[in-house]
Amino acid sequence: MTEGLEEKHIHFFKQLLKGRVQTGTDIDSKYASDHTEDFVFYPAAVLKPETTEEVSAIMKYCYENELIVTPSGARTGLSGGALANYGGVLLSLERMNKIIQIDEKNHQVITEPGVVTEELQNAVKAVGLFYPPDPASKGSCFIGGNIAENSGGPKAVKYGVTKDWVLNLEVVLPNGDVLWTGANVIKNATGYNLTQLVIGSEGTLAVVTKIVLRLIPHPTHTLLLLVPFRSGVEACEAVGKIFMSGIIPSGLEYMDRDAILFTAPYVDDAPKLLKDDHDAHLIIELDGFNPDVLMQECEKIMELVAQFDIDEVLFAETDAQKESLWRLRRKIGECVKTHSIYKEEDTVVPRNELPQLLKKVKELEKKYGFKSVCYGHAGDGNLHVNIIKDNLDDDTWNNQLPHAIRELFTEVVRLGGTISGEHGIGLVQTPYMDLAFNEVGLNLMRTIKQAFDPKNLLNPGKILPIKTR
Ligand code: LAC
Ligand code: ZN
Repeated sequence: MTEGLEEKHIHFFKQLLKGRVQTGTDIDSKYASDHTEDFVFYPAAVLKPETTEEVSAIMKYCYENELIVTPSGARTGLSGGALANYGGVLLSLERMNKIIQIDEKNHQVITEPGVVTEELQNAVKAVGLFYPPDPASKGSCFIGGNIAENSGGPKAVKYGVTKDWVLNLEVVLPNGDVLWTGANVIKNATGYNLTQLVIGSEGTLAVVTKIVLRLIPHPTHTLLLLVPFRSGVEACEAVGKIFMSGIIPSGLEYMDRDAILFTAPYVDDAPKLLKDDHDAHLIIELDGFNPDVLMQECEKIMELVAQFDIDEVLFAETDAQKESLWRLRRKIGECVKTHSIYKEEDTVVPRNELPQLLKKVKELEKKYGFKSVCYGHAGDGNLHVNIIKDNLDDDTWNNQLPHAIRELFTEVVRLGGTISGEHGIGLVQTPYMDLAFNEVGLNLMRTIKQAFDPKNLLNPGKILPIKTR
């Protein structure tokens, strides 16, 4: 018997998957963690299926033998959705990594879930097509994980999040049954929307084995600006003004001073961009097909931001400069993680409430004595609040901070927002779900979970708080 899993189960999996099984001390440590805080949970076995049939056989077997299954992609998640915190089987979709078909005539792509998002984007770009959702981890995350978490990223402000691009999914239910959730069409008024129910369900309802995405022609031109503000709150106020002018940027990102300070040791350009009186920066990207139109929009934005207390605006002139600015932005999360243990709060409010949200974060910093690094998708009202542990004592970290987070989320909900914009609830945000939904809503979700997974074996304990009464 291997710890956590009976020998007969291991035998079955080894027969089925031929060398694609890890158990006990053979399990690679990478399968025990994702990118969330400093969690480590070892599963009893890691299984690496290559086909839908294999996934179905695994699920059927686990259902009959009451084994817990946690689906896992590239484990870049930030809410612990892919952590095997109850042990059991970790179902890694990494071998299901083929782009099945790029359908240029219909502007669609059919893919397996284990394809790295950026590789998928590059493959469709090679034929002039565009899959816009681009989470910061696009170079390593899987498209299947993006579906599980309904990932966003900087381009969501113009193009929407993952859910806006998914037409159809092949899924395996916890009992091993296989179905397609929709059809390969743009319009679909046929029955309940199972596709959208599975998207963002964090691997708690079904395992996604094939994905049909819609695509659009790839924009041919981009412009990128970096605007330094002397007040972070003013930077947030400028965001609302830009949208009110009728322009929709393809990226509108906020970085507070500390965000750049954290990336400075790791990104060459970072230190020289930051002057003593800079409190925050906005990155503004415009994209399209007509450079003259983009220039006109850019000039309008320059007029708008000039109404605030700003320093000199930086235009990225070359592709290399653009790439370097985006790298600076995308690296923030990783750099914060390298620096210290931290908690990531993925707050989201109606865009115009962003100044209020930032003020609340600063107020809570003073009240509870913590330090935060704030950055994120200002155009979506989606602010990532990274609370840094540094020298904070364990009592404050473990016992006081949950009160601070609850206070922050209460304000977020009061402002018309919610507790996660794009990172999901996973394991770490379940204690706060009562702020986003009342018991009626939570019970409805429990009933949905029960319908898909009557034995509660697929990624249990994620999203929904355990009922206390
Ligand atoms: C980002 C990730 C953390 O926006 O969502 O960088
Ligand atoms: Zn983000």
